[in-house]
Amino acid sequence: MSTCTRVAIIGAGPAGLLLSHLLDRQGIESIVIDSRGREEIETTIRAGILEQGTVEVLTDTGASHRVRSAGQMHEGIELRFDGESHRIDFTATVGRAVWLYPQHEVLKDLVAARLAAGQDLRFHVTAERVEDAETDRPKVIATDFDGNRVIIEAEIVVGADGSRSVAREAVTGTYGGYFREYPFAWFGILCEAPPSAEELIYSNTPDGFALISQRSPEVQRMYFQCDPDTDTEAYSDAQLWDILRSRVPGRTLKEGPISKRDVLRFRSFVAHEMRRGRVVIVGDAAHTVPPTGAKGMNLAVADVVLLSEALGAFLLQADESLFNAFPETARKRIWKAQHFSWWMTNMLHVQPGADDFDRMRQIGELRTVVESESGRAYLAEAYTGWPLNGMEHNVRQ
Ligand code: PHB
Repeated sequence: MSTCTRVAIIGAGPAGLLLSHLLDRQGIESIVIDSRGREEIETTIRAGILEQGTVEVLTDTGASHRVRSAGQMHEGIELRFDGESHRIDFTATVGRAVWLYPQHEVLKDLVAARLAAGQDLRFHVTAERVEDAETDRPKVIATDFDGNRVIIEAEIVVGADGSRSVAREAVTGTYGGYFREYPFAWFGILCEAPPSAEELIYSNTPDGFALISQRSPEVQRMYFQCDPDTDTEAYSDAQLWDILRSRVPGRTLKEGPISKRDVLRFRSFVAHEMRRGRVVIVGDAAHTVPPTGAKGMNLAVADVVLLSEALGAFLLQADESLFNAFPETARKRIWKAQHFSWWMTNMLHVQPGADDFDRMRQIGELRTVVESESGRAYLAEAYTGWPLNGMEHNVRQ
């Protein structure tokens, strides 16, 4: 079956769904496909922190009203190291904040909003490849749930299909991207317990890093630094609590039944190209960050805000300038976020084989940040998010 649309979007994650929403606000029709079902999309546990700009896009464009009512504003984080606790106060230093609102809740809001608006949103449709990038009619070749061939012909194809993107090949060819692996990972748990603190705790100890995050008043998310090859069944629940307790000395963690365990590997990746002809990749399809700075979903939102403005000018006014500039404009923020994620990761984790010098130097670095107003402001500014390029256009629509 063959269908035509203006913009074909592969991937119903935050990037793909938000893009279809922002395009619709400009009167631009799109089709969104995803290999997963709605249930899987809406229940997979991912990140939890939204930058202030992300919250503004979601609320000011009518994509999610629940983020402000059901989400929780966090005006700071706690940094722990060397037996001390330091608060980075975002509001006091940069007048901005972040929101704790899990990614799957954002997805529920976006799916509901898109379906209510009559969006052509197709679950269980798997993209196989993208063809004809350098023509006026690029195509997505896909297969539906029953194994039937689906061809979507469009003016623009957007790959918002995550780190295992099939659209990426049509854009980057064999050139790939910039890549960095880290010698550690996070062991993550979800547990049924009240929050251990009002704000997130980032804790550095000689044995490694831990992060005490949250999901809701009843469910908490916690992580500790581990070897990337760690098996999720390597520890009993009691051992996991022992490790977490030892990684956050001086704080009593609220414990409860563990409902999920996973190991998250750390990678930094930036594709060499984000656009070829009329095919573009955004979000995790174009770049991956390690999770320490909570930048992944926020960076996807930043790409899409920019792209939606560029596609509006291109498709409605035949003005190609923003579309041509898109990869270069997006790249500037991507590398700032790459740097911040890399910096937070290296500042807080213990490198395998670290010696006393490394350890003392790391404490020196952490002190440089927390004991200086500008150090705290640097962290706060990056964590709460830099201003979004293209925001004004999208809100005005
Ligand atoms: C999370 O809750 O999953 C989370 C929060 C903050 C981070 C990373 C992950 O920096």
